[in-house]
Amino acid sequence: MNRAVFALALIALCALLPACSDMHDQPSIKAQEAPRRSAPGEAVPVRGKVAVDWQGQYVSSEPDVASSRQRGEELYLTNCAMCHGTRDTYLGAVGKALTPPPPSLHDPRIRSLSDGDLFKRISLGFGRMPAFERLIPVHDRWHLINYLHSFR
Ligand code: HEC
Repeated sequence: MNRAVFALALIALCALLPACSDMHDQPSIKAQEAPRRSAPGEAVPVRGKVAVDWQGQYVSSEPDVASSRQRGEELYLTNCAMCHGTRDTYLGAVGKALTPPPPSLHDPRIRSLSDGDLFKRISLGFGRMPAFERLIPVHDRWHLINYLHSFR
């Protein structure tokens, strides 16, 4: 074999080698094993450290003005009052049926929460409270939080 042919063969072999190792590492599915499905794009871990960067969303897009609070009140009465009661009554019909009942939103500990903390609790849910991320759009969640300021 002359040298040129040998060199070409060597180059071809080197080019093919990575392909062989890729095949070795392929994510094959074993017999009786269900195909692995990837998590939906918006999935967040419910236990352990939350890897989602919420900081960017902590900034309110809605200035705390009368019209915003008014919109927030509508949203509150539709989505929250059945559990947390209205601003003047503690506990709605559903809240009364829960043991232990949900905390009053007039509670000093809750009134001392930052807007970002409220946003996170409303969005992701909190303990027994449902998540509203898919039910209330981001700008409406901020209107709601502006309305919650009036509980202070
Ligand atoms: C199905 C009943 C229910 C609904 C609807 C509901 N909540 Fe709650 N909420 C709860 C319960 C129960 C807790 C207490 C959670 C726990 O400690 O396990 C809670 C806790 C909270 C807290 C306190 C979190 C903390 O740090 O202790 C806030 C703030 C709150 N809810 C706001 C809202 C807002 C705003 C809405 C409407 C968008 C809403 N909730 C709708 C039941 C509800």
